[in-house]
Amino acid sequence: MVVPSCKQDQSAEKKPMRRGICKNNHTVLKERYDRNRCPYAEKIVADHVKALFANDPIVVANFIRKLFHDCLVNTRRRVMDKVQKSSKTNGELLQGVGYIDDIKVKLEAACPLTVSCADILSFAAMEAMTLLGGPRCPYLGGRRDGMVSLASQVDIDRNIPLPEWTVDQIIQLSHKKGFSVEDMVVLSGGHSVGVAHSSVFKDRIVGYGGSPEPNVPNQLVTGLAMKRKPPGTTEARAYPTVSFEETPTVLDNMFFRNLVEQKKALLASDQNLLNDPRTSPYVHQFAGDEQLFKNKFADALVRMSSLDVLIGKSGEIRRTCKLTN
Ligand code: HEM
Repeated sequence: MVVPSCKQDQSAEKKPMRRGICKNNHTVLKERYDRNRCPYAEKIVADHVKALFANDPIVVANFIRKLFHDCLVNTRRRVMDKVQKSSKTNGELLQGVGYIDDIKVKLEAACPLTVSCADILSFAAMEAMTLLGGPRCPYLGGRRDGMVSLASQVDIDRNIPLPEWTVDQIIQLSHKKGFSVEDMVVLSGGHSVGVAHSSVFKDRIVGYGGSPEPNVPNQLVTGLAMKRKPPGTTEARAYPTVSFEETPTVLDNMFFRNLVEQKKALLASDQNLLNDPRTSPYVHQFAGDEQLFKNKFADALVRMSSLDVLIGKSGEIRRTCKLTN
């Protein structure tokens, strides 16, 4: 199936982006999927995400990350239940899981047991991408939620990449999921928005007062000591957050430009993309062409949101997105 192309800004709209070639079960995903049973589903999700964005733009970046994780785990479309949240890779790092539950409450009030948590997450991520300055993409719906979850699928199967991963490991995961090397590089440009907790890159700096590794962006880690938060905050962690780059609420190509021009990235895994001959050409390409990056990012995100979806009679529609199995 050919996925409807994402709309760019006015000028780009005249020349639509390359159409996404979606894989797996995406053929059954449709725009306005629940138009009869829940005509305002997309609007309810979009309004909620817009309100979050208006209050604090940076928080919506987390929907994009959650979509990435939800898509990579095999028994997907569960939206991070308790077991998965407790896994080493996800649990500590995924903030804002409650936002999906909040939206689900509104949808259950409007049309009970109709819209899956998986569709809600996908719609929310698409809206977030647009609000952050990316293209507007179709809200494809029709996913059902997984009934099984295993923390082991995150950590043991190594479906979720770790910040210290090599390019070999990243490419292996991409291929396993049916993505090209270019796809994974462009999707790593998701680190154009949002933040990382300093615990995930703290090994790259020597304490908070010491000298950082040469490739850690100094300007981004400066002041970490002052920002350190007490345990038990809403972020549930004592580590302060730092943005990946200087414009964390704008989906732009600064992540790639920083890599090329300053040879710096917050995560070692991102740094590795510059240094490997298989990934480096794409890093340079996206650093040199922001619109190309945005178009390809949107295209890959739509395809990712269609990966291994449960459809038809598989899975279920949950009443709540916070499962506790
Ligand atoms: C090699 C691959 C990747 C690794 C190792 C990785 C790792 C991480 C880590 C460690 C964080 C910080 C989490 C925290 O401290 O709370 C993060 C944040 C983030 N990641 Fe990735 N990631 C990868 C790929 C991706 C991809 C493909 C996307 C999207 C398509 C993505 C989107 C994001 C976003 C938007 C954030 C910011 C979340 C927020 O502000 O709450 N990442 N990632």
